[in-house]
Amino acid sequence: MQGTEGTANSAPPYIIRTIQKGDCKLPFALAGKQHESLKIYFRKDSERARRELITQTYVAVPKNSIISCILGYISLMSAEIAFAGTYSIPDKPRADRYPTQPAIRIARLAVADGARGCGVGRDLLSLSISIAIDHVCASVGCRFLITNAKPESVGFYGKYGFALLDTDENRASIAPIMWLDLRPYVATIGG
Ligand SMILES: CC(C)(COP(=O)(O)OP(=O)(O)OC[C@H]1O[C@@H](n2cnc3c(N)ncnc32)[C@H](O)[C@@H]1OP(=O)(O)O)[C@@H](O)C(=O)NCCC(=O)NCCS
Repeated sequence: MQGTEGTANSAPPYIIRTIQKGDCKLPFALAGKQHESLKIYFRKDSERARRELITQTYVAVPKNSIISCILGYISLMSAEIAFAGTYSIPDKPRADRYPTQPAIRIARLAVADGARGCGVGRDLLSLSISIAIDHVCASVGCRFLITNAKPESVGFYGKYGFALLDTDENRASIAPIMWLDLRPYVATIGG
């Protein structure tokens, strides 16, 4: 899939596309111990997890650059969310009869050190919402986009409408669950 094209002011223009063989070996500047697991996942697991149909990963790479590198990536997988009575789905009375609701999980999201603040994270997130709506919701029931957010990225997700799962346990978690209801993004559903 060819995703979006970014044209950030201070970063080279980039495209977002599905991960390809060899991408995991490209330079990807992600310093800091707190981001080690995001880097290891990209290097060691992203291509394998794609082959195993566990996650699908999308990468942002510079457009028209001789030497390629990874500016950022996002990995998606199918999932469920248990609201435990904390959210009443407006158009779905008695949703609480079911323990969980169908969702897509943002399993990983990271933008390279030098590429932050240029819109790459926003574009990766926006592509995920488009994929959910245009491809998943259009053919398989799926209502929410969810993630386990690092505390320092709660504000980023919040900016795009994600809410914290409203339980004490979740708020105290080191990677709290955040969710976005996709229904308002879907213009018309027949029937
Ligand atoms: C969080 C992260 C993905 C954001 O990516 P980014 O490319 O720097 O973000 P963007 O440039 O697209 O920012 C889009 C908007 O979100 C805001 N924003 C970015 N990071 C933010 C944060 N941590 N908290 C609050 N707002 C944030 C920006 O200010 C910008 O707002 P604006 O449009 O009003 O100017 C990136 O900082 C990152 O990879 N962090 C390390 C790993 C991480 O935390 N991953 C997240 C999930 S585990």
